[in-house]
Amino acid sequence: MKVIIVFFAFFFVVSAISFDLTFGLKFDDFKNQFGKVYKNEIELRIAEQAFNINLGIVTFINAMPGLAFKLGLNEYADKTFKTFQENFLGLVLPTDPSERGNRVENQNSGIQGRSVTEDYSSVTAPAAVDYRNYSMPVKNQKNCGSCWAFVVLGVLGECQSFQAIDKQLKSSFIESRMMISNSSYNTVLSEQFLVDCDTRDHGCNGGWPHNAINWIAKLAQGGVPATTSYQYYGFRTKCRANVPKIPMNINKTIQNNTAGNEDMMKEIVGSVGPVAAVISVTSYFQLYKSGIFYDSTCSSNCSSVNHAVIIVGYGTDQATNTDYWIVRNSWGTTWGQEGYAYMSRNKGNNCNIACYAMYVL
Ligand SMILES: *[C@@H]1O[C@H](CO)[C@@H](O)[C@H](O)[C@H]1NC(C)=O
Ligand SMILES: *[C@@H]1O[C@H](CO)[C@@H](O)[C@H](O)[C@H]1NC(C)=O
Ligand SMILES: *[C@@H]1O[C@H](CO)[C@@H](O)[C@H](O)[C@H]1NC(C)=O
Ligand SMILES: *[C@@H]1O[C@H](CO)[C@@H](O)[C@H](O)[C@H]1NC(C)=O
Ligand SMILES: *[C@@H]1O[C@H](CO)[C@@H](O)[C@H](O)[C@H]1NC(C)=O
Repeated sequence: MKVIIVFFAFFFVVSAISFDLTFGLKFDDFKNQFGKVYKNEIELRIAEQAFNINLGIVTFINAMPGLAFKLGLNEYADKTFKTFQENFLGLVLPTDPSERGNRVENQNSGIQGRSVTEDYSSVTAPAAVDYRNYSMPVKNQKNCGSCWAFVVLGVLGECQSFQAIDKQLKSSFIESRMMISNSSYNTVLSEQFLVDCDTRDHGCNGGWPHNAINWIAKLAQGGVPATTSYQYYGFRTKCRANVPKIPMNINKTIQNNTAGNEDMMKEIVGSVGPVAAVISVTSYFQLYKSGIFYDSTCSSNCSSVNHAVIIVGYGTDQATNTDYWIVRNSWGTTWGQEGYAYMSRNKGNNCNIACYAMYVL
């Protein structure tokens, strides 16, 4: 008996040491790869511990048979989900229930106003669209809950530069929008301006995209500075309202409360273009690397969304006959597929992807 216990104790000690060694090495690789520098020994140890937990999650999930996606040790792998949640998500649902429903607001900023033909009846969404080639660059919101600002300016910028896709999509509705767009608008717009100045939202503590769009249209007189004159820091600074602004064409701002209806979301993305959407993020999404993400632990309640993204397309993986959404995130290009993710489509509104579509006309 004693012999057996001693043997097992020995075995555990040896395996614990060898685990520590492998983990230690991987953490060093990780630090080098992402140029991580920690303030002090305590922070380093906390990061290492989080990394080792995430390493376990990644190894475990990637070894599971039959999953359509893979996780990876990206630049967020040294953070527990709790820390990540506190610092990198930032969606605040409006407390007023009327602001959560369908909202269509006409804007009268008068800056380069234009009329739009909004006739959904003539539009049939294609079976698949992919706007990535016409998209704004993937950005990084850094340690700030400003996802709402990134999706708003992403959608605005894309709307302004949308004419490039007219060759790809032939619906009359889309073409009518092309006519009034201007591809040279592919300017990189300043999220920091929204973080600092948008009084309807809460800077790095979160916001709601449709509120921010309306704030731009009404209170910023429909203009947004470029990052060249209003740089991104990732923390709130003093609002500089008087920097030069690029006028945006905003005639109408739309919030379609699609309430989990993925067909409706497909109609909108296929006929309108990229839209701002909200999702529920879990620890697996933090570490997403590739494939079609599906998370059975995600809440399916549109009230529990915690992050905003831009849906830039949808389609079906022919090999596995799996439907997906193409989503652009604001966590930099080392996350996911160059900053994009494929998320499950038509699998019960997984992670609440089809709760809201928000865009401008
Ligand atoms: C905005 O669009 C509406 C129709 O949707 C049109 O009546 C109105 O004139 C447009 N506003 C401007 C400033 O062009
Ligand atoms: C995007 O552009 C690349 C390179 O030009 C091309 O190979 C690819 O087919 C394009 N994708 C789409 C969906 O248009
Ligand atoms: C497109 O936008 C640029 C930059 O604002 C402007 O100089 C140009 O005149 C615009 N072109 C059209 C056709 O509106
Ligand atoms: C939401 O989008 C669907 C699908 O295009 C459309 O039928 C519906 O009228 C839209 N609702 C609003 C309020 O825009
Ligand atoms: C969704 O969550 C909200 C808030 O937590 C709750 O009031 C509501 O009953 C939930 N809805 C469903 C269908 O579970």
